[in-house]
Amino acid sequence: MISAQVQDEDYMEFSLRPRYLAEYIGQNQIKDNLKVFIEAAKMRSEALDHVLLYGPPGLGKTTLSTIIANEMGVNLRTTSGPAIERPGDLAAILAGLSEGDVLFIDEIHRLHRSVEEVLYPAMEDFALDIVIGKGPGARSVRLDLPPFTLIGATTRAGMLSAPLRDRFGVVSRLEYYSVDELAYIVTRASDILDIKVVGEGASEIARRSRGTPRIANRLLKRVRDFAQVQGDGIITESLAREALERIQVDKMGLDHIDHKLILAIMDTFGGGPVGVDTLAATISEETATIEDICEPYLMQIGFLKRTPRGRMATAIAYAYFGREVPME
Ligand code: ADE
Repeated sequence: MISAQVQDEDYMEFSLRPRYLAEYIGQNQIKDNLKVFIEAAKMRSEALDHVLLYGPPGLGKTTLSTIIANEMGVNLRTTSGPAIERPGDLAAILAGLSEGDVLFIDEIHRLHRSVEEVLYPAMEDFALDIVIGKGPGARSVRLDLPPFTLIGATTRAGMLSAPLRDRFGVVSRLEYYSVDELAYIVTRASDILDIKVVGEGASEIARRSRGTPRIANRLLKRVRDFAQVQGDGIITESLAREALERIQVDKMGLDHIDHKLILAIMDTFGGGPVGVDTLAATISEETATIEDICEPYLMQIGFLKRTPRGRMATAIAYAYFGREVPME
């Protein structure tokens, strides 16, 4: 039963994803530029140049890579940095590509250095350098690969090595979505899932989705649960607000982890500065969760500052939580 539910949610998530650029809402600059690059590559009958997509999780990096493959009319092969353990694993994947294919590597910053080195000649010359034998008798043979497009995705562009970063012809940073864009996304998803959302219902979900479509779609499903069980199945603004308060998503989209984080900085560390590892230990969260998920949004809305000496809560955060800014 549980696994059927999980599968159902996975399937819904999959079916909600736009498949072509025309269906994709937001990221207008990236979309407009990609349209040109895709059209130009198709006119020249070439593979699209390698693309690096970076930005916080849930903004559509995987979705965009599927769209690029669909728009180019080629196959998509998906893997991730941590899944490729040895250089041979990547060599096998590359050798299996057909001309023009898209290879999507998620979390590309987590590629092992020895694996990354296989990528350099593959990206630059469409070649695979294979070492045969060991010791003094070892020699290297170069195998040709079909021209392909590598799409790398990462939440941490800063952690990419310079030689890898420099080999991407297109580098795009995904931005948080506006409330209007998210409201469109919620409306589109509710049409696909046959959920009735009226009035400001979609905007209320959008406002609390911290600029992130993945969160918007997840919240839509949770609000639908409340609408079905405790309402008449219709999502209104007030039903959405009450449902989201029940699951501890506040009017800025902050959840209980964000609250714990900001309150720890203000109440335990006098507003900061405090190091991220100390904070993580204090609130019993992973440092990576704080760095990759909480902080980018808290900085975007001006609640948190990163300084060389650590994290600090801002006056805006103090005002939001109804506290006085401490004296120096
Ligand atoms: N679903 C998730 N992300 C989306 C987007 N950017 N556009 C349309 N639907 C989406």
